[in-house]
Amino acid sequence: MSNPGVAKVPVVDLGPVICVVGARPNFMKMAPILRAMAAHVPQVPVLLVHTGQHYDQDMSGRLFEELGLRRPDVNLEVGSGTHAIQTAEVMRRFEPVVDAHSPSCVAVVGDVNSTLACALVAVKKGIPVVHIEAGLRSYDRTMPEEINRILTDQISARLYTTERTAEDNLVQEGIPSQHVCFVGNVMIDSVVYGRANARSAAQTLRACQMDPALLSGPAGYGVVTLHRPSNVDNVETLRALLEALAEVAGKLPLVFALHPRTRSNIDRFGLANLIDPLRMVLLPPQGYLEMQGLMAGATIVLTDSGGLQEETTALGVPCLTLRENTERPITIEQGTNMLVGRDRAAIVAAVGEVLAGRGKRGRLPELWDGHAAERIAADLYQWLTRRQAGATRNAFTA
Ligand code: UD1
Repeated sequence: MSNPGVAKVPVVDLGPVICVVGARPNFMKMAPILRAMAAHVPQVPVLLVHTGQHYDQDMSGRLFEELGLRRPDVNLEVGSGTHAIQTAEVMRRFEPVVDAHSPSCVAVVGDVNSTLACALVAVKKGIPVVHIEAGLRSYDRTMPEEINRILTDQISARLYTTERTAEDNLVQEGIPSQHVCFVGNVMIDSVVYGRANARSAAQTLRACQMDPALLSGPAGYGVVTLHRPSNVDNVETLRALLEALAEVAGKLPLVFALHPRTRSNIDRFGLANLIDPLRMVLLPPQGYLEMQGLMAGATIVLTDSGGLQEETTALGVPCLTLRENTERPITIEQGTNMLVGRDRAAIVAAVGEVLAGRGKRGRLPELWDGHAAERIAADLYQWLTRRQAGATRNAFTA
């Protein structure tokens, strides 16, 4: 463990740390944290709560198994809904869990609706909120995730960051820097954990009853994911993106792992005819190990996902982000990521650059070393025991 200071802190009785997961990108962040806590601070009880924001086997169940994440202690089974319904339902169902367990803190990750909903419940009950992956900002308030990030950070007592600029963002918003702790990126802990068991593209295609030869060719293959509402909820935007991808597919075959939102919109908008099944292989949402293997073997990744921007940087695979902004600037400054937006000519030109061998090679950002969760476990334990000791002193002196 990188921080030997843990043992010096006196042992005190702590209520459980409630760790919240809700949607797909949460599972790979929380899995290494639970492992690190069990290994390094086993005296701290942990209660794992799944809100059920993502609920089907593809989006949730299978990921738990592949990430070595234990079964949740509580599943709130909220399912889908509008933002208001989903957020409200998580809050309504999470409150009794907090009441029943008197946690020492509630730990939330990332930026999904479940993150903000559980943070709100906790803070209003006087339970400190711990936010992992704090301080990332796209500065685009039309993104629901940006609202979730800003508000969660504002009500968090301990904020763990993945890159140094995140602290600048937080301080600018009035959050004291002593509440912030730079630990690196837990997503990369999961990349390192999964590396040895990642499934090859050929294995994944065979498992989907498809011919791996579809991906063979001199240029290799590209991987595509799209699911941001700003990219897939509007018919014209989605049509333009699919047309751009069809042109890219003329240069190298693409594997498109379809998020349920995207699949349903392609059908609803009648856009399925833009997809040539021989050049663009459509797959259901993939498991973690399948996705890692697909990306690791790819020539290029085209995506609007936050997680994939980071994972491609860790894997050294060029990534084109089909958005106008990113909350993860370090993947551009140091990693393999390029913001290309949604313009067809820009996307096709950027793919051409990569195919000509001029894709970004990048380097690993500071502390993206596979040990971020250990640093969180160490700091969290120290922070909780210090708080506890402070509370006891106050109670005696009051
Ligand atoms: C959510 C997160 C987003 C994250 C993404 C990863 C918010 C605001 N957004 O977006 O930050 O990047 O997850 O996937 O929290 N669906 C299924 N099966 C499931 C889950 C969802 O079919 O297991 C369907 C839902 O019915 C809905 C659609 O997928 O129609 C979208 O789900 P939702 O949870 O609303 O948001 P995401 O787009 O997944």
